[in-house]
Amino acid sequence: MEIIDSIVELRHYLDSKRADGLSIGLVPTMGALHSGHAELIKKSTNICDITVCSIFVNPTQFNNSDDLLKYPKQIEKDTDLLGSIGCDAAFIPSVDEMYPDDEETLVMNFGVLETVLEGAFRPGHFSGVGIIVSKFLNIVQPDKAFFGQKDLQQLAVIKKLVKDLNIQSDIVSVATVRESNGLAMSSRNLRLRGNEVQLAANIYRVLSSSKKRILAGESIGSVLTSVKVELEGIDGIELEYLEAVNSNTMISAEKIADAGSISICIAAYVGDVRLIDNLYIKQED
Ligand code: PAJ
Repeated sequence: MEIIDSIVELRHYLDSKRADGLSIGLVPTMGALHSGHAELIKKSTNICDITVCSIFVNPTQFNNSDDLLKYPKQIEKDTDLLGSIGCDAAFIPSVDEMYPDDEETLVMNFGVLETVLEGAFRPGHFSGVGIIVSKFLNIVQPDKAFFGQKDLQQLAVIKKLVKDLNIQSDIVSVATVRESNGLAMSSRNLRLRGNEVQLAANIYRVLSSSKKRILAGESIGSVLTSVKVELEGIDGIELEYLEAVNSNTMISAEKIADAGSISICIAAYVGDVRLIDNLYIKQED
C-alpha cells in the first residue's frame, strides 16, 4: 500500500490511475481505525478499482480542544490494517499540508442542520467537517466517497454539501458496525475505562427498546420521556440529547407518520467520553 503525505504526490498517483481508466473510491477518516472503518474500506474495494483512505484528525471540526488533544492516534496499526484489507493508498497529511494558512477564515453553514442535535451541541463542528471533506473531495475527485450511518447527521451534511456545490462524487452510506453488546464501534471507545464499556452498552439497549415500543404503537413522546428518566437514573451516564428525527433532514418527528424515514439519535457522556449513536425506526427504500 502507498503511504502518501503530500497533496501533490497524491494527485500525481491518482492521475496515473485515472489515465489507466481505473475508478477511485475515497474513505475519509480520523484514524484509530476499527471494524466500522474497515467496513467502509471493504465496500470501496468491492465497488472501486482504487481505494484511498485519508487519516487526518481535523482540528477545525473540534469545538473542544481537550477532545482534540485526547483523540487517539495509532498510525502504524492503522496502516497495517489498511494494507491487510486491500486499501491501495493511505493519505496521511500534516495539519500544515491541509491548512497552510495560520488563520482559517472559511466558514460553512448548513442551515437547519446547524441548529439541531450535533449542530446545536457542537457549534462550528459541521463547518469544520464541511471544509475538510470538501478539500478531500477536491483533491481526490473520487467516483465514490464512503461514509457511515453511525454519523447520520454528518451524512446529511455531506449529501447537502455535494448537492449544493455540484460535486460529482457519489456518496455511499454504510450501515453501523457494532460490538457484540450493541455498542457502536467508535475510535472514542478506546478511551472507555473499567465498567464504562458495559455502561456504554446502555446506549444501544435504549435505542433498541425505544424502537420496539414505538413500532408497537406507543407514542414517540412518551417513549422518549420514559427512556430519558431511565438514563438519568444510571450513574456514569449523562444524556445530552435523545430525539426522533426525519433521517434526511434531522427535523424532529413526533409521529411515526411524520417522515418516510425516521431515526432515533442520541448523544451521551459515559464518564468523560462523548458518544453518539442512532437507530432507524423506519427506513424508506
Ligand atoms: P471518523 O470518526 O474517523 O469516521 C470515519 C468514517 O467512518 C465516517 O464516515 C463514520 O461515519 C464512519 N464510521 C465510524 N464508526 C463507524 C461504525 N461503527 N460503523 C460504520 N461506519 C462508521 O467521521 C469522521 O471521522 C470525520 O468527521 C471525517 C468525515 C473523516 C472528517 O474529518
